[in-house]
Amino acid sequence: MHLHDDPTSDTDARSWWEARYAERDGIWSGRVNAVLASVAAGLPVGRALDLGCGEGGDVVWLAERGWSVVGVDLSVTALTRASAAAVAAGVEERTAFVAADLASWETDGRFDLVTASFLQSWPVEIPRVAILRRAAGFVAPGGYLLVTAHAAPPHGDLPEELRGYRFPSPSDDLAALGLDDRWEVLEAAGRPRTATTPDGHEHHTVDGVVLVRRR
Ligand SMILES: C[S@@+](CC[C@H](N)C(=O)[O-])C[C@H]1O[C@@H](n2cnc3c(N)ncnc32)[C@H](O)[C@@H]1O
Repeated sequence: MHLHDDPTSDTDARSWWEARYAERDGIWSGRVNAVLASVAAGLPVGRALDLGCGEGGDVVWLAERGWSVVGVDLSVTALTRASAAAVAAGVEERTAFVAADLASWETDGRFDLVTASFLQSWPVEIPRVAILRRAAGFVAPGGYLLVTAHAAPPHGDLPEELRGYRFPSPSDDLAALGLDDRWEVLEAAGRPRTATTPDGHEHHTVDGVVLVRRR
């Protein structure tokens, strides 16, 4: 794992996420996100980049299927868990984790799949549109960019800090990317999903999906 202190990092967002991850050991399920699993299952295996990889559920799933995966996140706590999950799954040789702010992170690498699952941040703002636009630049020719977003509240009981948050629609995200005709749009739509809250209640939500391919 490559962990460095990025001086340009948005300290507010990083502190907020560190505090969120410190709440308990494992704030996400550790399982792959449904949209990523269904999209990646149809792609040839190659190099992948996971933006805002959190505790690594998507990174580990991809690596288990033969992908070489780089996961980037603001939170060292999340990445320490992601790295441990990769070791536990026996896929650490195909994974790398970088602690950095995606608003300024640079790489010479180009990836066959760049994926961002729920790269959303509240109540602290992140420059999400700028991050997604930069993400398109990391895609290799012939490669794919997948943006999966909460297009609707992820849980029925909306916490106070979420009430003013505007959930991006897939068309918002597609427009934000500002892609030209070197890109083919394969999907820009909502996928309904049933989520189970930690107390066992089922809740209907919508994942916004943007899948584009660089020609
Ligand atoms: C809602 S979580 C999603 C985590 C993971 N993709 C998943 O689906 O379980 C959003 C993640 O984005 C990360 N994040 C937010 N802003 C970021 C930024 N500017 N640069 C890098 N990571 C960021 C947070 O630390 C957090 O882990």
